[in-house]
Amino acid sequence: MKIRFAESRPKGDYALVLPVAGKDRKALSALGPSQKAVAAGLDRQRFEGEAASVSEQFIDENGATRRVLVVGTGAGASVGDSAEKLGGTAAARLQTSGEKSAVIDLTGLGYDADAAAQVGLGTALRSWRYDRYRTKLKDNQKPTLNEVVIVGGGSGAGKRYEQRWAPVVGGVSLTRELVTEPANIIYPESFVERVQESIKGSGLEVDVLDRAAMHKLGMGALLGVAQGSARQPRLLVLKWNGAGKSGQPTAFVGKGVTFDTGGISIKPAAGMEAMKWDMGGAGAVAGALKTLALRKAKANIVGICGLVENMPGGNAQRPGDVVTTMSGQTVEVINTDAEGRLVLADAVTYVQRKFKPSTIVDLATLTGAILISLGHEWAGLFSNNDDLAAKLQKAGEESGDKLWRMPLGEPFDRLIDSPIADMKNVGPREGGSITAAQFIQRFVENGVKWAHVDMAGKAWSDKAGSTYEKGATGFGVRLLDNYVADVLER
Ligand code: BES
Ligand code: MN
Ligand code: ZN
Repeated sequence: MKIRFAESRPKGDYALVLPVAGKDRKALSALGPSQKAVAAGLDRQRFEGEAASVSEQFIDENGATRRVLVVGTGAGASVGDSAEKLGGTAAARLQTSGEKSAVIDLTGLGYDADAAAQVGLGTALRSWRYDRYRTKLKDNQKPTLNEVVIVGGGSGAGKRYEQRWAPVVGGVSLTRELVTEPANIIYPESFVERVQESIKGSGLEVDVLDRAAMHKLGMGALLGVAQGSARQPRLLVLKWNGAGKSGQPTAFVGKGVTFDTGGISIKPAAGMEAMKWDMGGAGAVAGALKTLALRKAKANIVGICGLVENMPGGNAQRPGDVVTTMSGQTVEVINTDAEGRLVLADAVTYVQRKFKPSTIVDLATLTGAILISLGHEWAGLFSNNDDLAAKLQKAGEESGDKLWRMPLGEPFDRLIDSPIADMKNVGPREGGSITAAQFIQRFVENGVKWAHVDMAGKAWSDKAGSTYEKGATGFGVRLLDNYVADVLER
């Protein structure tokens, strides 16, 4: 989708989008002589200008027919708060409408450059789709819209969009692509290749560890998960040094289980296809690093993706196996389906030993239990530091990637003690997301600020949202991007 900005409406054929805030219909004055008819149409449709409501009408402009989309932005909302949704609503409605071009006219409605740029962001995010495997789409199902012009948002909107939001669209798109692709296409090696292809020229430094390199480092937990699969594991390291040599970096670590069958503790068949997106955390880390590089963020960030496939097989690890992690701590693998924490344990140790970060944020589709707690509205946030937690929650509110803080504590930690090893990889069913987080915390070294985001309910959505279609949401990219912008870059 091409997003452009202009001072005034161009000539020619396009759908005209007009935002209407509740009962305030001043945007309709852009319609000239057709204003009255469209207003009457809104009344007939009982259109009240609620956020994301749409009225579609056609007018005659000097003999030519023009499609007019009146989009509600809500009565009380500021233009800043409703901008993204406005763009998203218009894009969703027009994408396969037959229109090739649309103009969103903000003239005289109080949108400044920032708000207008955010209209562009919502438009671009909501237009993302992946049709690679749809070979039989009928002509009238194919996307037609290829350009949206945002008019009247004041000078600087275009520059603001290109510098601040186009990089976010780039990162989120990469994440969605990785999450959407099935596991026969995206496995650890091809994940790395796809990311490398996508970040070419961005200035990100890339390092890739293969099985032998990880074996040498003693990553017995990550490799234990990988050993049942014909696919070779990888550890992908992405570095962005936007703040020069100064200071300790911040680390983002993602769970990248490219398919989770459960291993020998195999999952039930129904719904198992969803486990292609068990690499959503790693996808978010890759997307976020791409965004930060594209917008040349003034921060030093290292991104780690722990990439494995969890399969049963003659060489798979067994329940009861004891593995030795890179930290030296041993783990009794009670359940091979609690594999994400095993991958993260070694990834978290690696990043601390190698990069000495002051702060680690890990993202993982870690537990079904977080869905029981928080549904699909919030991801769970766990942290050993109140200040870090508060800053992440704020970044979540601002970006829309919302986080709900969950507890940690000694009584939960005791639940993963093992009679034979330093710990076991599962606790009881109750508090399953918390014991999973406690497990990861055992690998966080003294003085390191750490937060864990359990995003099992967020990587994929069964229904469309204002900035995404059904499917991969791109969750996590905007959270991390916003955190870097608000906390590290000032
Ligand atoms: N990848 C799953 C968690 C998951 C479940 C993500 C549903 C998205 C939707 C994870 O590896 C897993 O299998 N967790 C187990 C842990 C259990 C064995 C302690 C779970 O949640 O059931
Ligand atoms: Mn699992
Ligand atoms: Zn998993």
